Amino acid sequence: MTDKLIIFDTTLRDGEQSPGASMTKEEKLRIARQLEKLGVDVIEAGFAAASPGDFDAIRSIAEVIKDSTVCSLARANEKDVRAAGEAIKPAKRRRIHTFIATSPIHMQHKLRMTEDQVVERAVQAVKWALEYTDDVEFSAEDAVRSEMDFLIRVFDAVIKAGAKTLNVPDTVGYSIPALWGERFKDLIARVPNSDKVIWSTHCHNDLGMASANSLSAVMNGARQVECTINGLGERAGNASLEEIVMAIKTRRDVFSCDTGIDTAQIVPTSKLVSSITGYPIQPNKAIVGANAFAHESGIHQDGVLKHRETYEIMRAEDVGWGANKMVMGKHSGRAAFRARLQELGIVLDSEEAVNAAFARFKDLADKKHEIFDEDLQALVSDEEAAQVSEHYRLTAMGAHSETGKLPVARVVLSVGGKEAHADAQGGGPVDAIFKAIEQIAKSGTELLLYSVNNITSGTDAQGEVTVRLAKGGRVVNGQGADTDIVTASAKAYLNALNKLHTGTERAHPQV
Ligand code: KIV
Ligand code: ZN
Repeated sequence: MTDKLIIFDTTLRDGEQSPGASMTKEEKLRIARQLEKLGVDVIEAGFAAASPGDFDAIRSIAEVIKDSTVCSLARANEKDVRAAGEAIKPAKRRRIHTFIATSPIHMQHKLRMTEDQVVERAVQAVKWALEYTDDVEFSAEDAVRSEMDFLIRVFDAVIKAGAKTLNVPDTVGYSIPALWGERFKDLIARVPNSDKVIWSTHCHNDLGMASANSLSAVMNGARQVECTINGLGERAGNASLEEIVMAIKTRRDVFSCDTGIDTAQIVPTSKLVSSITGYPIQPNKAIVGANAFAHESGIHQDGVLKHRETYEIMRAEDVGWGANKMVMGKHSGRAAFRARLQELGIVLDSEEAVNAAFARFKDLADKKHEIFDEDLQALVSDEEAAQVSEHYRLTAMGAHSETGKLPVARVVLSVGGKEAHADAQGGGPVDAIFKAIEQIAKSGTELLLYSVNNITSGTDAQGEVTVRLAKGGRVVNGQGADTDIVTASAKAYLNALNKLHTGTERAHPQV
């Protein structure tokens, strides 16, 4: 008999707290649909009280997701809990996840509350949440640095109040596997009625041990793991879903539990999240990195050819590598295009949107011989990016570089409907195009990151560019894709400028 391990994905909430990773409603919906296809049990869709945009995104996700539970985070105050309750209302299965810090350092310096006040507030928050759903999760933020006797007191009180899941977070990524496992063992042994609730672990990766710590918690009784795709998340990120799921599956001999994840959907989900957030996947990342199944040394290659299991503990196809299909070429029609988008879980909400995406597809097919699923995802992301706001729009551009001469670029932009031109020189064509755009936009932003990834292989592949800009404490990522990387760079820069221009303010749950 194996237990079910609940996979609670927080890519859309904790993952979105990564610098610049904030997503539009449409992007969140695409990721939520893919998470449902992946088979996650709970999707933490956001933090409803953060902003009207966050509330709206959670509500839209709650309207379409049927197989996974839809959850909103809420601080332990009435306004947050009621916002969460309203946002998840349309969901078939819904959860409110409320939290308050329990460590001396957080209670004293951040909350300025006594232990009694924290317990009282935690209980009250669970009771407010129960007005909306009987599926209430409580988290003791910074549990890792909380005193054991106080943690036991808080957990005992929230179980009595009706919480069904108790989450124990290593908020600051401080623990190590042996100690984290020990903490679960002690909590489960000492909290009254601990067998009536699900124990959950939520680990951050500051010391690179988030997945190891989570798995140690599972070995000691945790039956829910909170994790994100590609380990995205605040600072060094969260435990990564793909590592947890594949460790559980590959080491059945060690873990007496199973997940409901369709592992063949792992790589497509990872690629989608990377392309939407602009966070590239390092090549040597476990499971989803480009080299995760590549054997470079002759001895390894020889071994794998003779008997695969000599060097492989998992099969690449089991996690979705090689599942990318060559979809179409320039002769493919609208019906085939629409059908493939549907299979990828991409829902375009109007006939106009389908027509615009199809026109882009035809353009791309003229430049690129084979079109893969990743190309279609990038094409739709690009189309959505163009709709973030039309304040800055690329009308035309050109860039020239020649040996012995300084590269030059020229752009024509539409800015708030008015046309503007600029020419600039730069260290390279991308630098020149950014300078030309800046001459017009005068944004005064700081460029924090510029990265290019090829979406598929080959020199005709689309380059996907991420540009991270900062201004006045706000950080945004812009994306652009094109077979010409200078064009992709200009699109990414403008996408970031448009996000800054739209600029809706959001509260951070932990501040
Ligand atoms: O890291 C953390 O403590 C959190 C809580 C809100 C669960 O993200
Ligand atoms: Zn967290």
